[in-house]
Amino acid sequence: RLPVLATLSGPLLLAGCAGDAPSALNPGGAGATRVAGLWWLLFWISVAVFAEVMALLAWALVFRRGNARVRHGQPLRFVTIAGAGLPFVILVAVYGVGLRDLAALGDGPGPDAPTVEVTGHKWWWEVRYPGASGATANEIHIPVGERVKVRLRTDDVLHSFWVPQLMPKTDLIAGETRETWLRAERPGSYRGQCAEYCGTQHAHMAFLVVAQPRADYDTWLAHLNAPARAPRTDAERRGQQAFVQGTCAACHAVRGTTAQGRVGPDLSNVGSRWSIGAGAVPNDAGHLGGWIANPQTVKPGNAMPPQPVDAAQLPDLIAYLRSLE
Ligand code: CUA
Repeated sequence: RLPVLATLSGPLLLAGCAGDAPSALNPGGAGATRVAGLWWLLFWISVAVFAEVMALLAWALVFRRGNARVRHGQPLRFVTIAGAGLPFVILVAVYGVGLRDLAALGDGPGPDAPTVEVTGHKWWWEVRYPGASGATANEIHIPVGERVKVRLRTDDVLHSFWVPQLMPKTDLIAGETRETWLRAERPGSYRGQCAEYCGTQHAHMAFLVVAQPRADYDTWLAHLNAPARAPRTDAERRGQQAFVQGTCAACHAVRGTTAQGRVGPDLSNVGSRWSIGAGAVPNDAGHLGGWIANPQTVKPGNAMPPQPVDAAQLPDLIAYLRSLE
């Protein structure tokens, strides 16, 4: 009885994962809804097959016990129908549904759809929008209720772009530009994750898809074209000076300043991002200070070397970076 109970309690356990869980079974958009539908179809077919096999087993054990004589013809017919015919019908049906869903997932948005260009790096995501001069990192904004084209490239090794609640995985392959699309039915944040092992910090290669009403999205996109927020306090001004004159600017860009490095993430809006280090630590002043002082203790192996920052300069740098929203 235990296996039956375990099987039947499966959906109940999984139902407990609903809410905001970044699960493919908690879809937030058209792509993941297809995947979840397919998953549940396979699940209930498995439950039905399991129940049927258990019923037949019980029947054989209870009612046929001691009846060793088998009438000719019967087993053969049974094996043909239940052992070959039925599985054939089920598998062909599942294959058909799978093909239908595959076609639906491959049917991308039209040429005029909003487009995002995402580049995978060890270990963060560079996010650009065609026509916008600025870039952001580990955060993809999309208009809610619209199909958004996502162009994927990798700067180094294989990565895989996965937003479980919105779309199945797409691998990023060196030398290739691949495409997928996202569509979120309701506003909110959907967590994404690199889904192909790409080195020691593969787990810290997360990102967020932020679905916004169209007007908010347009405002956000316009922001990507404007210079970053100018410093307002003395500390922020000193921080900016330290940033553009120090080593930071060799790798990082801040729009509207002379810092135009393209090696690391563009920091023009770093103060408003959801995390530091692609999901490594929360984005607050303390973690930012720790990161600047020695990124290698926070996320060992990442490309940013420990910084020779003057202890007196650190609070100014933190104030400046926190002000970039
Ligand atoms: Cu990138 Cu795993």
